[in-house]
Amino acid sequence: MNNSPIGIFDSGIGGITILNSIKNILPNESLIYYSDNINSPYGNKTKKEIQSLSIKKTEFLIEKGCKIIVVACNTATTNSISKLRSNFKIPFVGIEPAIKPAALGTKTGRIGILATKGTLSSELFCSTAKDYASNIKIIEKNAEGLVELIEEGVFNGEQIEKVLKQSLSHMIKKKIDHLVLGCTHYPLLKKTIQLLIPNDIKIIDSGRAVAAQTKRLLVKNKLETNLSEPKYSFYCNGSAKSLNNILNNKFIINTI
Ligand code: DGL
Repeated sequence: MNNSPIGIFDSGIGGITILNSIKNILPNESLIYYSDNINSPYGNKTKKEIQSLSIKKTEFLIEKGCKIIVVACNTATTNSISKLRSNFKIPFVGIEPAIKPAALGTKTGRIGILATKGTLSSELFCSTAKDYASNIKIIEKNAEGLVELIEEGVFNGEQIEKVLKQSLSHMIKKKIDHLVLGCTHYPLLKKTIQLLIPNDIKIIDSGRAVAAQTKRLLVKNKLETNLSEPKYSFYCNGSAKSLNNILNNKFIINTI
């Protein structure tokens, strides 16, 4: 079991930002990545639809022999992590917008959160905001259309900047000092975002925290590997183009 892979899924290529963080701190672990890009984006789907898609991705990864599942998608986590934990025995790591570190770090008392509609409307997001940020102002924005552009391989340029400016202008006006990237696709735009916001706004994403939590769970469950040559496998159910691009054509993508 210890040499089994870690399973990671997302609605597309966003979860690759998480996979990279996991690879950095767990270099011996084999990884299986599943991009559910035929169903992308998850952000505009109902809770029920997101739960059903998350269950199917989990079943696939368990079938492939995974020992732990990383839900590398804020939308899937905030809408389905408790369902997944009650349906399956395998350990799960989820990702949700990093409200806590932003709330602890803010000096202006205002933080911005960029996420999908599905994440922002979820019960988990609302309860985390209530628990950690009840005394500060959260300015949240659903960056409509951004995930679709990223899935098409657009990371900068006019279209991306237009959506970002629309999403960020109100936050900047309100003097946020922390910007939380609450979708695993958005760190792929970090350079462009940095150019559009004042230098003193700190950008926060949860990649490293998720990787650290994955390591903690492996240790806790005595599931760490001693493999010297880990294997990386990639699956998608739509076009393999965006996954190939983000991975610089270095891996074989299995289309299912
Ligand atoms: N990467 C997913 C997330 O973190 C994208 C959501 C979507 O498919 O809309 O929420």
